[in-house]
Amino acid sequence: MCGIVGYVGEPKEKQAKKIIIEGLKRLEYRGYDSAGIALYVDGVFETRKHVGGLENLEKIIGDEKFNSHIGLGHTRWATHGAPSDANAHPHSNEDNTVTIVHNGIIENYLELKEVLAEKHGVKFKSETDSEVIAHLIGINYEKEGDFLKAVHRTVDMMRGAYALVAVCSHEPDKIIGVRKDAPMIAGIGKGCNFIASDIPAFLKYVREVLIIENNETVIVTKDDITILGSDRKPVSRETMHISWDVDAAEKGGYEHFMLKEIHEQPEGIRETLTKRIREDGMINLDGISMTKEDIDGFNKVYIVACGTAYHAGLVGKHAIEKMARIPVEVDVASEFRYRDPFVDEKTLFIAISQSGETLDTLAALREAKKKGARVFSVVNVVGSSVARESDDVLYTWAGPEIAVASTKAYTTQLICMYLIALFMGKVRGTIDEKYYNEILSELKAMPEKMKTLLAQEDKIAKVAKKFHRKENVFFIGRGPDCGVAYEGSLKLKEISYINSFAIAAGELKHGTIALMEQDTLVIALDTQDCLFEKMLSNIVETKARGAYVIAVAKEGHRDIEVEADYVIYIPDCRDEVSPILSVVPLQVFAYYVAKERGCNIDKPKNLAKSVTVE
Ligand code: F6R
Repeated sequence: MCGIVGYVGEPKEKQAKKIIIEGLKRLEYRGYDSAGIALYVDGVFETRKHVGGLENLEKIIGDEKFNSHIGLGHTRWATHGAPSDANAHPHSNEDNTVTIVHNGIIENYLELKEVLAEKHGVKFKSETDSEVIAHLIGINYEKEGDFLKAVHRTVDMMRGAYALVAVCSHEPDKIIGVRKDAPMIAGIGKGCNFIASDIPAFLKYVREVLIIENNETVIVTKDDITILGSDRKPVSRETMHISWDVDAAEKGGYEHFMLKEIHEQPEGIRETLTKRIREDGMINLDGISMTKEDIDGFNKVYIVACGTAYHAGLVGKHAIEKMARIPVEVDVASEFRYRDPFVDEKTLFIAISQSGETLDTLAALREAKKKGARVFSVVNVVGSSVARESDDVLYTWAGPEIAVASTKAYTTQLICMYLIALFMGKVRGTIDEKYYNEILSELKAMPEKMKTLLAQEDKIAKVAKKFHRKENVFFIGRGPDCGVAYEGSLKLKEISYINSFAIAAGELKHGTIALMEQDTLVIALDTQDCLFEKMLSNIVETKARGAYVIAVAKEGHRDIEVEADYVIYIPDCRDEVSPILSVVPLQVFAYYVAKERGCNIDKPKNLAKSVTVE
C-alpha cells in the first residue's frame, strides 16, 4: 500500500534526492503502482512522478541534479483514479506553493472538489481525492499567512483516513504531517529528521523513532520534531528504539523474500515462544492485563481478521474451543463490522494482524470496543495501530515480513493462538497439568520438526514443477486441517494466479464434487488422527472421479499411500498442533509453482502488503 518518506537535512549537504529514493525502495514491499518525489530547488518544490516501478521514476530524474536538502517521496497504490503519471503523488496546488503526499481516502473529496472548482476556479490535474488537499492548504495559506494554521484549517474540512505530509515553499525548511487512521512515524537523525509511513523507510539513518498518534500533527525541521495533540497543543512523546536491522529486511541470499521468510519460520516460532515461556516452562503473559476474573467472565470469543490472519483464526477456534471450552466465532473483519454482531462486556475480541494497520481489522476492533468487548490482539508490527488500540497485545516475533504473501507471520500467529488457548484453558480449569505440559512441549518441538520438514523442499519443488500448468486446484481438509486448506489455497492463488478453491472435505459431496474430473488436482490435508479415515473416504470420492490427489499426512500414516497418488509427510505430532507443520509444504508448493510460472512472487499483481483502505 502507499508509502511516504519525508526528509529534511543540512542545507549544505543536499542529500534529499538520494535519501528519499533509498527510503522509497525500502517501502516497495508495501506494494505500489506509481511513485513520485518533490524536492526543494531554487525556491520551489519541483515534482517528478511516474507510473510503474521506482526504476521509471529514477530514469526521469537520473540526469537532473536536484541539489536539495528537503523533500517528500511517495509510492502510490491506486484507490481514486487509475495508476497514471498524473494520479501519482506528490500533488501540488496551482501556483506550486504547496505540495503534499497522502495515504488513505478523503471521503468528502467530491464535495471539496466542487467547492474548489466553483468558488476558486481550480483546475484539477488528477482524478485523485488527494489533490484537493494541496489546493485547500494553498487557499487557506492565503487566509492565514501561516503554513501550520493552513494545514489545520484544511484538515478540519476533511473527512476520512489520512497520513498527510505537506511542504510549502513559503516556509521551506519544514515538513508538516497529520495523521488520522493511517500510520505515521517520525525519525530522529543526526543533523536531519524524517517522517514516514513505515520504519524501514529511514532505518539506514535512524534508530530513534516517534510514533505519531491519531489526530496528531508533527512538524519536522532539520533540528526539531514537534508533536501537537488533537487539541493542537505540544505533547511529549517517548522515543522508541528500533533494534532490528535493515539487513533483517533484505533477502539474505534467497531468491525471493517469500522463500527466505518460509525458512525463517523455525526461528520466528522459537522467538515467539521464548518471549512467552518462563524458565519453569509455564506460559508467561507478563504485561497482559487480563485477569482470572476477566477470563472467567467471558462467555464468548470472537476472532476477527483478514486473509491469512483470518485463517490463523480458523485454526485458533479449534484450539480455544478444545482447550478453554468456550464458544468461538471467527469472522472476516470486513463482514463483522457491518452486521451489528452480538458483542458485549462478556466477549473477548481477538484481532489478528501482521501489519497491525489493516483498516478492516482496525475498524472491527473499534466496533467491538464500542460495544464493550475486551480487546486482545495478536500483532507482528510493534507499535502499530491495532496494537496500540487493544487492551492487551500478544506480539508475534516473526520479524519484518516483506513478501506480500504471508508465511512466517501466519505460523507465529498460530503459536499465539495455542498460547492463548492453553492459558485460558488453565485459568478456566478445563485442561489438566498433564495436557498443558504435553501441548507446551509439542510447541517447543516445532522449530526442529519444521526444519526437518523444510529439508524436503527439493522434493516439493519437483512436484510443483510437475503440476505448475494446472489452472484449477482444490484443497480439502477436516477440522483444523480445513483452516490449513484455506491458507494453502490462498497462498497458491495469490502468487501463482491459479484458480484454487478450498472446502471442508465433508462438504464436497454437497456440490463441489461436480467439478472433479480426470486429472483434477486435489491437495488433501489428512493430519488429524481422529479424522484420518473420514478424510480418506473423501480422498477416495475424488479419486473415483479421476482426481490426482497429493496428500499431506503424518509420518505415522504411511497407509495413506494406498489411496493418495503422492504423499508429503510431516513429522508426527499431536493433532492439535499439526497445522503449524502442515501449512509449510503448501507454502513451499505455492512458491515453486509460482516460480515455474514466472510470476512476480514477492509482489503479486493487484496486491499490497498492508491494506489500509476499506
Ligand atoms: C495473504 C496475506 C493477506 C493478509 C491480510 C491481512 O498472504 O498476506 O491475506 O493476511 O491482508 O493483513 P494483516 O495480517 O496485516 O492484517
